[in-house]
Amino acid sequence: MSTPATGGDPPGFAPRHVALIMDGNGRWAAQRGLPRGEGHRRGVEALRRTVRAAGALGIEVLTIFSFSAENWSRPAAEVFDLMGLLRRFIRKDLLDLHQSNVKVRVIGERRDLDRDIERLLAEAEDLTRANTGLVLVVAFNYGSRQEIARAAQKLAAEVAAGRLAPEAITAELLASRLDAPDLPEPDLIIRTSGEQRLSNFLLWQAAYSELVFLPIYWPDFDRAALEGAIAEYRRRERRFGGLAAAGAGTRPS
Ligand code: FPP
Repeated sequence: MSTPATGGDPPGFAPRHVALIMDGNGRWAAQRGLPRGEGHRRGVEALRRTVRAAGALGIEVLTIFSFSAENWSRPAAEVFDLMGLLRRFIRKDLLDLHQSNVKVRVIGERRDLDRDIERLLAEAEDLTRANTGLVLVVAFNYGSRQEIARAAQKLAAEVAAGRLAPEAITAELLASRLDAPDLPEPDLIIRTSGEQRLSNFLLWQAAYSELVFLPIYWPDFDRAALEGAIAEYRRRERRFGGLAAAGAGTRPS
């Protein structure tokens, strides 16, 4: 995700890359007197709807924050539940995703994951590698600061090996060592649940993203909510269209 977003989409066009912070599963469940796990299960259903809607709306890349590097601090039973949901999601939905021409990518640290999960993630990427439809980026065991630190480690190793001069390190070079450097940066980041923060999600890549915070819990998210967020994104783009006459093609800094 190293290509800076350029904005200026014509009205009616979807943002190329939408990233989702799927927040509020627990509160959705608590409101109904249900266990938190039920909120996560309904969250997976919302995810299925959203992947379909994103493809239908012409979005090229959809990144989902499925499990953060900080989520390990939750009670063991909930971590177990979330790992189980990922296993089931891949086992149950991978063929459907493949048949829908979805290409799965994974970002995050894989080394701390159970072997079978690591294998499932690799299998999802391998099976769908040649697909040409929606790119679904699963951020799993993902933290943005950790991703940036990993990129810095790669550059440091190149410097130590004498292949790179420290002064040759630029923002672009660091971006090229992030987890998915070939993908465009997110144009639009949506967070549900009413919280208004990024929580260590795509901090580098979000430099020019439009942020939309929705006052609904993730299990209630659907195509209409996605379209509403895109409409908000377009209103912002249109305002910029007014300013852009002086310098079209770039975003305000
Ligand atoms: C935030 O809700 C959500 C998560 C921590 C996990 C998101 C996961 C899913 C939507 C389903 C899992 C999908 C896959 C593919 C694994 P929260 O628990 O923080 O809710 P709360 O803030 O209301 O407690």
